[in-house]
Amino acid sequence: MAVNNADHVLGVDIGGTGTKCAVVDIKKGELVSERFRLDTPQPATPEAVLGTMKKLIDDMGWKGPIGCGFPGLVKDGVVRRAPNLDESFTGFNLVEGIKSILGASIVCVGNDADAAGLAEARFGAGKGVNGTVVMVTLGTGIGTAVIHNGELLPDTELGHLEMKGKDSEHWASNSAKERNEWSWKKWGKNVDNYLAMLEYLIGADRFIIGGGVSKKPEKFFPFLKKVGCEVVPATMGNLAGIVGAALLAVPEIRRSSRSAASRRRSTKKS
Ligand code: BGC
Repeated sequence: MAVNNADHVLGVDIGGTGTKCAVVDIKKGELVSERFRLDTPQPATPEAVLGTMKKLIDDMGWKGPIGCGFPGLVKDGVVRRAPNLDESFTGFNLVEGIKSILGASIVCVGNDADAAGLAEARFGAGKGVNGTVVMVTLGTGIGTAVIHNGELLPDTELGHLEMKGKDSEHWASNSAKERNEWSWKKWGKNVDNYLAMLEYLIGADRFIIGGGVSKKPEKFFPFLKKVGCEVVPATMGNLAGIVGAALLAVPEIRRSSRSAASRRRSTKKS
């Protein structure tokens, strides 16, 4: 697929269970190609995950810029932690890995929830909202994106806040619901406790709930009683991850998401 439009970027969303991609118009926040998906390989080692990405992208024949959402903490292209993928990802230079396997020159990688949050803030349930908007994705893990007046504070990992002596993901992720076969009511109350804690700690004005469960808000929103701010479902569905991944490759967004260390390095050079 030839790149004939500077606004077109390939968005790749690596998830705990599936890896999805499509070409995105970053100005409109819309897909301009079909959406492709393959299962994320298990064990999800860097080699296996890169192999899956290569298959997806080679099949599309994409040769342009790539933005990639990753389910963990990535700093300057290097994975620091990926709780729901293989341990061997720790310390792996994902940007270099993608560049070398795909021969792509522009590759930007960031956290998957940050990507989804950016997309929702620009084009979805957070569009035009001032104050502190927090996207919370309830999937295999819990991902968070904190956006204040439209600007992302990158790399928050608030799904790992401790709740009742355990990681919050243990109580409020969708995989916890499925693993424990909890009813919507039981799980919904856990989500309520989690969001109430987050709202208190971060002063959230609006939560946007993402992940597959956001398609069924009527099942658990009635149990969200303690949380003191507005809670809305994501409106972009499973497109937010792909659109947001592509947004990570937009220079202004990339700059605001870089780590302080990398900013210090480039200031010294100039
Ligand atoms: C990871 C986050 C990620 C979330 C959703 C968590 O386990 O720590 O970085 O955003 O899962 O994939």
